[in-house]
Amino acid sequence: MAAFGTVFMPEMSLASFDGESWSAPAVVPSDRLELHPGAHVLHYASTCFEGLKAFRHADGSVNIFRMDRNIKRLMQSSELLSLPPVDPHMLETMIMDIVRQFANAVPEPPGSMYIRPTHLGTEPAIGKAAAPSATSLLYVLLSPVGDYFAGGDHTLRLLLEENGARCAAHMGMVKSGGNYASALQPIMKARASVKADQVLFCPGGDVQETGAANFLLIDGNEIITKALDETFLHGVTRDSILALARDMGMSVSERELSVEELLERAVKPGAEAALSGTAAVLAPVGTLIHQGREYTVSNGRVGETTAKLRQALNDIQWGHSTDPHEWLVRV
Ligand SMILES: Cc1ncc(COP(=O)(O)O)c(C=O)c1O
Repeated sequence: MAAFGTVFMPEMSLASFDGESWSAPAVVPSDRLELHPGAHVLHYASTCFEGLKAFRHADGSVNIFRMDRNIKRLMQSSELLSLPPVDPHMLETMIMDIVRQFANAVPEPPGSMYIRPTHLGTEPAIGKAAAPSATSLLYVLLSPVGDYFAGGDHTLRLLLEENGARCAAHMGMVKSGGNYASALQPIMKARASVKADQVLFCPGGDVQETGAANFLLIDGNEIITKALDETFLHGVTRDSILALARDMGMSVSERELSVEELLERAVKPGAEAALSGTAAVLAPVGTLIHQGREYTVSNGRVGETTAKLRQALNDIQWGHSTDPHEWLVRV
């Protein structure tokens, strides 16, 4: 199987904003874009994107998971980046139409079709360092993906970083390329120095998120994760897992979690830690690394509750169980 996100459907849906209105979306080849070298995005990083998935069910239907949430988040990111406003109905139509066009290429579970709406500032204006791009491009790219978790019972090693942040505090809830670029060096250093898979950013001791996923601590019947604020990305998977946890009768605590409390609780029997995100769903964490010391999360293996929540979410996505929250939209 090719690496996640490296195979693309040959066409994508694309619309452009000319400063006043959106063009009608068109289906165009997905292997090129025409941009002026002075385009705003190439200099001042006026870009945001989304990641969501379409799933094939046993009855042959193709179903998109929580598209409304991802559309809202792209609208919010665009607004916070001063990009032209995204028309949610147009974007929904673009997503539905392009997924329908490539419905036959949506893999069977555990695979899926990863959907990547992208919005970028195109105005050729290198003098606009402190002014928004008047024009933009919005496109929806498709990438069939396999199971991110072919790794079986592998658990992740996270380095806790208290001194650095993933991105500027006011940019946390914006899904923008610059945030990922800013997290790269800390992640690469953590890989090289302590063989960490990811960095868990905890500026000033506040447990936030990793480079591309939210963090959850599970302690018996309680699930604890940072309450929503502007410093981190409001994951759709996080929200879905918390809803399923409530459905199962678990107590959900959305609040501040300090590094000190995390390390104290994580090593106790029955504790579990996990990362949530569209790509990995719910990924078990086995080791936390802090100031040169390694803390094994409970017994270091995949936790029972993590596996149960992950299965419950997959069952809905794959059509193996009912969809009580009406998260799926049939294309
Ligand atoms: C920084 C960051 N946090 C959290 C998430 C999880 O968000 P979601 O569950 O919507 O995929 C992602 C993945 O998109 C991410 O990049």
